[in-house]
Amino acid sequence: MKSYIKSQIEGYGDIVKENEILRKHADKPTNERGEVGKAINRYHPPRLELKVSEIIRETESTSTLRLISPSGYLPPFQAGQYINLFVEINGIRTSRPYSISSAPNQVGYYDLTVRGLQEGFVSDHLLGEISVGDVLSATSPTGNFYYNPLFHGKNLVFIAGGSGITPFMSMIREVTDRGLERNIHLIYGSRFESDIVFAQELEERVRAHKNLIVTHVISEPGKDYSGAKGFITSGVIKNAVNDIPDKMFYVCGPEAMYSFVLKELETMSIPKRKIRVEVFGPPAHIEQQPGWPEHVNPNDRFQVHINKDSHIEAVAGEPLMNSMERMGKSLPASCRSGECSLCRTRLISGKVYQPATVKMRKSDVKYNYIHPCMAYPLEDLELSV
Ligand SMILES: Cc1cc2nc3c(=O)[nH]c(=O)nc-3n(C[C@H](O)[C@H](O)[C@H](O)COP(=O)(O)OP(=O)(O)OC[C@H]3O[C@@H](n4cnc5c(N)ncnc54)[C@H](O)[C@@H]3O)c2cc1C
Ligand code: FES
Repeated sequence: MKSYIKSQIEGYGDIVKENEILRKHADKPTNERGEVGKAINRYHPPRLELKVSEIIRETESTSTLRLISPSGYLPPFQAGQYINLFVEINGIRTSRPYSISSAPNQVGYYDLTVRGLQEGFVSDHLLGEISVGDVLSATSPTGNFYYNPLFHGKNLVFIAGGSGITPFMSMIREVTDRGLERNIHLIYGSRFESDIVFAQELEERVRAHKNLIVTHVISEPGKDYSGAKGFITSGVIKNAVNDIPDKMFYVCGPEAMYSFVLKELETMSIPKRKIRVEVFGPPAHIEQQPGWPEHVNPNDRFQVHINKDSHIEAVAGEPLMNSMERMGKSLPASCRSGECSLCRTRLISGKVYQPATVKMRKSDVKYNYIHPCMAYPLEDLELSV
């Protein structure tokens, strides 16, 4: 039956003949096996070793780690992509994604611009413990938050909050360095004027390039500040940007800023296809997200059984992946924001909460797979890893 079906496929007979000829006359065809994979790995290795060549202080809370390759080779990337940095802190192996803030045309290094959080586990470590000469391990560049010339047009509005400036800085540097034909309007929200990352460079680039406009929006301005104040509302956006309908909007920043700005864009009737978003990590207060069950307190603790042979305790208010890592159970990870599917894990029993931003495939839902980087336990769980 199988061979009958194969014989009905157009061209199948020709392929069989060609294979026979190859087997007879060519070098062993198996010699070629794995060559494609090897070539891909050579240009886009799954793991990179990156050496800190310089640390540049940007603001009081933010520094740039300039990373070079000890082997001399850095995989190319698209402006807007990130790498996932692996670290071991007090015996806990974990990772965090960071967007590359340098331009892709700058092939000698990757810049990662890290903002410290209050008690941020990895950001504190990167800003406090890492020195010039240290070697870090990371994934190759990845992610989908980049310019698509077929669909995005030439008029772009970038809306950044805090450290969310980093992918935009890479795009702005590329467009202005290479003289690309794209008009960019950056609307950049910061808490204080002194919090603005890359303030001077942005000002210089605006002065030198007609196709770049920057509007700063400060939520807690000093008394002499005369620019836009408060949050990035629809009013601020309309005031700053002319001719809304022909623009493509990109939004990047912490979850709270992203949720706020998306609602504002909705009130402006901007279609979803005209908005690209990147969320920087898990929400600060998961219990305030829509759909979080009232009866679960973020401090509640649950038992998580893994592969029937081990178990850990997990806290409701943090991503399951963090609790697992703390107990020495690592999963493959890249985006840590529920997007890339690398960490997908089968949930055998129990309930988790996953925010609406998590990109679940239909098959994930059907066969009960979850993304532990953005899944929060709501009761005792059983996982198959
Ligand atoms: C694609 C992408 C690109 C990014 N690029 C950048 C960048 O260029 N620059 C930058 O500074 N950051 C960037 N980030 C954010 C970065 O990955 C980290 O999330 C950030 O540095 C904070 O990590 P942390 O370990 O210091 O903080 P964490 O300790 O992980 O805390 C971060 C948040 O996670 C939650 N959380 C973690 N642990 C707990 C817990 N025990 N209990 C409750 N809640 C918890 C909280 O909501 C907390 O606010 C990016 C994120 C993504 C997804
Ligand atoms: S690490 Fe990407 S979905 Fe979990």
